[in-house]
Amino acid sequence: MRTILLMNAKGGCGKTTLATNIASFYANQGRAVALADLDPQGSSMDWLQCRSEYRPGIAGIPAWKESLRVPRGTEYLILDAPAAVHGRKVADLVKRAQTVVIPVLPSPIDIRAASHFIHDLLLVGKVSRQQTKIAVVANRVRENTVIYHTLERFLKQLKIPFLTSLRDSQNYIRAAERGLGIFELAPSATVHDVEQWRPLTRWLNSRRSQPG
Ligand SMILES: Nc1ncnc2c1ncn2[C@@H]1O[C@H](COP(=O)(O)OP(=O)(O)OP(=O)(O)O)[C@@H](O)[C@H]1O
Ligand SMILES: [Mg+2]
Repeated sequence: MRTILLMNAKGGCGKTTLATNIASFYANQGRAVALADLDPQGSSMDWLQCRSEYRPGIAGIPAWKESLRVPRGTEYLILDAPAAVHGRKVADLVKRAQTVVIPVLPSPIDIRAASHFIHDLLLVGKVSRQQTKIAVVANRVRENTVIYHTLERFLKQLKIPFLTSLRDSQNYIRAAERGLGIFELAPSATVHDVEQWRPLTRWLNSRRSQPG
């Protein structure tokens, strides 16, 4: 089973948005997907509640209140972490995953918070031993802004893969309110977004995102 964790100590950076989109991406590929919500806010489970039964199914696990019991046959387990995770909690979450994706927003506060978070994450044994692979994604970007260039410079100098930049787009809002991923919206409206997702899905599908 592939286990992918979306995590960053900073709130509102796109953990749930990436978790739900990755879940719907694999579900649409015919994979057996479970989405575990580790956040008492329950946003991933709210998203799943809005999802039509006619869409490829995703099993929901409200893991903040019950044990993480994964349905038999699950091929992809997507873990949506809460904000404000530090210390032991980070190490506990990392233990469950082969792959961690960290979304970062273009803002000075988010860049500083991400810098501290990634520093701490790299000290976690499993990460330093490469038993869990980590990467960053810029989220809600508006190209040609000074702060986006600052974020890009910051992410490029990290010693972990910087996979892609996802633009700030109403498509994510529209998809979220219907329990969909952007891959399930009209392709004509999402060509650009799907293009931006490609390096991320390619990395997730490659050995590079999995421990050796
Ligand atoms: N690329 C994007 N374009 C537009 N809106 C976005 C994008 N990514 C996320 N959002 C919106 O930003 C808000 C925060 O995103 P999200 O809930 O995914 O973050 P989070 O990290 O899970 O937050 P929390 O820490 O509260 O769990 C949501 O309203 C979401 O719809
Ligand atoms: Mg969330």
